[in-house]
Amino acid sequence: MATALYGPDGFFVSGPGPAAHFRTSVHASPVFASCLLRLLSSLDAALGHPARLDVVDVGAGRGELLRSLSVAVGVSLADRVRLIAVEKAPRPEDLPAEIEWVDEIPQGVTGLLVATEWLDNVPLDLAVHTPEGWRYLQVNPATGEESTGDPLSAEDADWLAHWWPALPPDASIKKFASTGTAKTDANLLINGLGDRVELGRSRDEAWAEAIGKMARGIALAVDYGHLRGGRPVGGSLTGYRGGRQVAPVPDGSCDVTAHVAMDSVASAGERVARCAYTLVSQREGLRALGADGGRPPLSLASRDPAGYVRALAAASSVAELTDPAGLGGHWWLLQPVDVTLDPLMAR
Ligand SMILES: C[S@@+](CC[C@H](N)C(=O)[O-])C[C@H]1O[C@@H](n2cnc3c(N)ncnc32)[C@H](O)[C@@H]1O
Repeated sequence: MATALYGPDGFFVSGPGPAAHFRTSVHASPVFASCLLRLLSSLDAALGHPARLDVVDVGAGRGELLRSLSVAVGVSLADRVRLIAVEKAPRPEDLPAEIEWVDEIPQGVTGLLVATEWLDNVPLDLAVHTPEGWRYLQVNPATGEESTGDPLSAEDADWLAHWWPALPPDASIKKFASTGTAKTDANLLINGLGDRVELGRSRDEAWAEAIGKMARGIALAVDYGHLRGGRPVGGSLTGYRGGRQVAPVPDGSCDVTAHVAMDSVASAGERVARCAYTLVSQREGLRALGADGGRPPLSLASRDPAGYVRALAAASSVAELTDPAGLGGHWWLLQPVDVTLDPLMAR
């Protein structure tokens, strides 16, 4: 997965970039950036208006979010804000000069660290249950053919026992055998028999490392994911190419992604920050920051037809960002570091 996505010809580093293949909150509407700006402004006040206010975008794609922020940032912040894209892909030629482009999260971030749909692309291992216990799942990157590998390391076995305990070992095999068909549980058909899980330890470590780079501020991870009580049976690994869902063969031709175990990630970050996190849906997060998907009053249509059309377009883009069945169902994990601020009271 690491080679397929980030190797020399990797999907994310050599092609036109994520926006050419799928739509994230960042691409959906400038309202997303405006809400983050509102959060940044309250954070600035809570930090006492520091001389340098960092905005670090981890897994920045082609810099789409920071481009929006650089245009929208107001005069009160413009001379203090430092926009930093952290990306494995090379710097786009047309990126505005005020946006820095680095391949590692800098040490001592003071301000906002944001990671939209980064963690789901942090490579991870899958495990499959066999009569000999849990084993790593191997895949031939040329063909997608799968086989069973070594037993799990002690660390991965511990992670699994603690964070993905939903399926008792071989429960789904028994279910499958007793009915002769897996149709009784549609999820079992998604990724094999259901006795496969995604080991989220690498995401926990990536998030903990990011939090460890922060001096003071708030880290926000936005991603699709699940909690311990509702892990996807059979896992969530999938691929995307050109706007379509495809088989997740790690050959460099497609995105390979798996939903994020948000509670496990959150707890790993909290251990580093030593401060309670907030975990809400994107819908809740954006609404708290003032995104209002309400339609403009009809009376505006006759008074100011162009204004009405603009307001209607803004309302429908907010509706897309807050749709519980789509982007609105993504998780917002907000981790404060050495700052006292209720991030969602930030209006
Ligand atoms: C799904 S894209 C999201 C892009 C953007 N944040 C958005 O929401 O549209 C994930 C991006 O994270 C980058 N990425 C993944 N792991 C990274 C890492 N450890 N350091 C820097 N960039 C990384 C990938 O190259 C890719 O561009």
